Amino acid sequence: EHIAVAIDGPAASGKSTVAKTLAKRLGLIMVNTGAMYRAVAWATIQKGVNPAEASDVVKMLGEVEFRCGVENNLSTVLVDGVDPGEELRQDAVNGRVSKVAAIPEVRDLLVRMQREYLQLGSVVMEGRDIGSVVFPHTPFKMYIDASEEVRRKRREAEGIIDDPAARDKEDSNRKSSPLVVAEGAVVIDSSEMGIEEVVEAALEVLKE
Ligand code: CDP
Repeated sequence: EHIAVAIDGPAASGKSTVAKTLAKRLGLIMVNTGAMYRAVAWATIQKGVNPAEASDVVKMLGEVEFRCGVENNLSTVLVDGVDPGEELRQDAVNGRVSKVAAIPEVRDLLVRMQREYLQLGSVVMEGRDIGSVVFPHTPFKMYIDASEEVRRKRREAEGIIDDPAARDKEDSNRKSSPLVVAEGAVVIDSSEMGIEEVVEAALEVLKE
């Protein structure tokens, strides 16, 4: 029986690094669901679709093929057979992703693909709604948090132009699957912790 470890949290809280490290140590598939929402946002740029026009985005979902897979134990996403690669982190995508992520049809499609990963093996999946929506029944849930200041600094250190606080606001206030601490999730505040400490805390959650 495959297991799912659900890791949620706001932008730049360090959840990706923790998820990657955990997956590597435990030999699990690491699934980055943010990359899937980013792929939809990237596709709107390629196709000239306004991300704020939900009906246009939904129409695009029927015309573009999104395909998820695994390579070296990491999730991959192809848009009409193309891997957007580093372009998923570009400013234009940062500015659009929370808009497409608020569209219920986008979420339904991606949540379905996310659940299918369990057929391939056990997973560490990170995102915003993994413990609340994708795998609400998993006993392994954590919410990695960090102060707004720490998160902004982490983004700056990565050299990325982004406004994590603005995205958090959109992600927390949307109607469909807003960012919440899932029922039963252990909250880990990483503001004053190094990666190794956060990983240790996460391993404790898995022992329970
Ligand atoms: O850049 P960061 O790691 O903070 O974000 P991400 O995990 O790449 O996610 C980018 C955006 O995708 C978020 O701001 C959300 O709008 C959306 N997202 C979501 O709605 N649900 C998920 N499970 C994952 C991401």
